[in-house]
Amino acid sequence: MLIDPQTTRGADLYQYMVRLIGPRPIAWISTRSVEGVSNLAPYSFFNGVTSRPPSLVFSSVRKPDGGLKDSLTNIVATGEFVVNVVPYSLAESMVATSRDWEAEIDEFEMCGIEATPSARVAPLRVARSPAAFECRLMQVVEVGSGPGAASLVIGEIVAIAIDDSVLGADNFPDPAALDLIGRMGGNTYARTTDRFDLERPS
Ligand SMILES: Cc1cc2nc3c(=O)[nH]c(=O)nc-3n(C[C@H](O)[C@H](O)[C@H](O)COP(=O)(O)O)c2cc1C
Repeated sequence: MLIDPQTTRGADLYQYMVRLIGPRPIAWISTRSVEGVSNLAPYSFFNGVTSRPPSLVFSSVRKPDGGLKDSLTNIVATGEFVVNVVPYSLAESMVATSRDWEAEIDEFEMCGIEATPSARVAPLRVARSPAAFECRLMQVVEVGSGPGAASLVIGEIVAIAIDDSVLGADNFPDPAALDLIGRMGGNTYARTTDRFDLERPS
């Protein structure tokens, strides 16, 4: 089977991509609107960029009507956002925040998710997330135009809040203690309980 993007519907291309690019890390992104309303939503077209400058990237795809998602609107308006990591224990809460609520709705309140202040940016973070990257907007790169187009948001990490309980003997975050999940296609997620180590060639 060979998929030709030129002759394949966008919705089908999306399915091929989300099922084949996986499992993907999930950025549970908290922002605050100019009016001060908190927003929280998951994004799995997400990854780190580099550590100098410490930076990460996620992709906000336009809504079916071509409109911008609230997270992107808030980030462009305020220049700040927080990426909360998602452990298995918060999977259901994370998915609950993916509903397309009105911009006036605070997902922390609506979904009963405890918030706590961030150290260096105004958006609150998820209190029970074991780690959060506090970010300032560096750049938005537009990819395409109209419905299905995306904005790649590149953020500089200005602080990383880590719960001491997930630190290992080497004082770095321990994968077992983090118990993070990843997104696969459709409604399928992956746990990270089946791990293995591999030496890199020197
Ligand atoms: C696990 C998961 C991952 C998601 N990843 C993305 C993504 O990478 N890009 C995107 O535009 N939407 C993604 N979504 C959909 C958004 O979460 C959804 O459109 C949400 O309503 C956006 O909220 P906002 O308008 O408050 O930003 C994802 C949803 C789920 C459940």
